[in-house]
Amino acid sequence: MFSTGEELSLFSEDGGEELEPLAVKVPRAYPKLVAKVICHNAPDRFALLYRLLWRIHSGERHVLQISADPDVICAMRYARAVDKVVYRMHAYVRFAEREIEGEKVFAAWHEPQHRVLRLAAPFFVDRFSNMEWLIATPFGTIAWRRGELIFGPPAARPAERGDEVLDELWTAYYRTTFNPARLRVKAMVAQMPKRHWNTMPETALIPDMVQTAGLRVEAMQSRTPDTPPRFAAAVTQRIAAKPPETGHAPLDVLRREVQECRLCPLHGPATQAVFGEGAPEASIMFVGEQPGDQEDLNGRPFVGPAGQIFDRALAEAGIERAKAYVTNAVKHFKFEPRGKRRVHMKPSAGEITKCRFWLRREIVAVRPKLVVALGATAMLGLTGQSVAVTKERGNVLFFDGLSILVTVHPSYILRLPEPDMAELEYGRFVADLKTAGQRLAAA
Ligand code: URA
Repeated sequence: MFSTGEELSLFSEDGGEELEPLAVKVPRAYPKLVAKVICHNAPDRFALLYRLLWRIHSGERHVLQISADPDVICAMRYARAVDKVVYRMHAYVRFAEREIEGEKVFAAWHEPQHRVLRLAAPFFVDRFSNMEWLIATPFGTIAWRRGELIFGPPAARPAERGDEVLDELWTAYYRTTFNPARLRVKAMVAQMPKRHWNTMPETALIPDMVQTAGLRVEAMQSRTPDTPPRFAAAVTQRIAAKPPETGHAPLDVLRREVQECRLCPLHGPATQAVFGEGAPEASIMFVGEQPGDQEDLNGRPFVGPAGQIFDRALAEAGIERAKAYVTNAVKHFKFEPRGKRRVHMKPSAGEITKCRFWLRREIVAVRPKLVVALGATAMLGLTGQSVAVTKERGNVLFFDGLSILVTVHPSYILRLPEPDMAELEYGRFVADLKTAGQRLAAA
């Protein structure tokens, strides 16, 4: 049975017929699709997923690959709509700071179009793990309390916006619903109706949990206020749970895997991840900022207007692009839709940091002798530190076993309004690339 996790029970309380479970082998893409489509508000979403499941079970195993199939078209449309709403939630939730019982807390009211709370939650946990926060929506509530993510019931739409609304949300949810003792019991009862308790082994734990819940709450209340290191530990644990950042994997594996990347929300609106390309063992690697509009559509780095300047400058500097490896610090296009246009937006430090996962792996796979950082984002992606590009351009910096030549991003030249200035800067860019070629020859 499909469930959004918001329904009261997986089994109906009023004695509805329980069906024999049917084991169905599905392609990997199916559960991924289900996870999104199920969050859509369309009343036919469950029927659609069941129909696809039934078709897979009845021999149409590859149905999801038929992009012209009406069911697949519809499911993909729902999935894309859900991705968009998750992205919007990440972008548009605004917290307001409150002080409740001497503790700093943050609250936000948000009205997503679909039931995306669970899909959207990891982003907020990652980004705001050192705050205590609550996001209330008409579909449910999430709160990050003392290093724990708690889902709660829907909130009523506040009559007005403003500070009082947020206070109300906190007093209503923070003090009651998010009392862990109460919430857990409620959730357990909701998921496992009592009439099933004696047939479910895990329910043996419930009485004990109920009994000790009061003690746990007391312990929580008597604890000294949380200090940053406690949260830092939680964050470190989560990071440690991810694959090691410098693990070695061949480029073609990474290129495939990056398409599944959900480390930050930029994958939502982007067409695809744009991975690096070029000679797999190139001695020189160029790192840009992020794919632009053309790159996003083509799936290749530096093929749009900035790419044209880059290609021209490379040729003038005597560097063959085919022998180099070209990539970006961030693998998804970040943009703002304006009418029919998609206007480039700078990736945030958080997005750049997340994407270092991929950049580092590319470096480990290619093992370049020299890396050319095209602009400040590239430097941040490569080193994790901000570097003044105008001050350091043309210099080679050594970082963590890497030799990095710093220069400007080609789009900086494109944006210069004065042709004379653009000409001058272009000449300096070519000179930097020539320096890179010389450093490489001498290495
Ligand atoms: N700008 C970049 O930084 N990278 C590209 O691939 C295209 C434009």
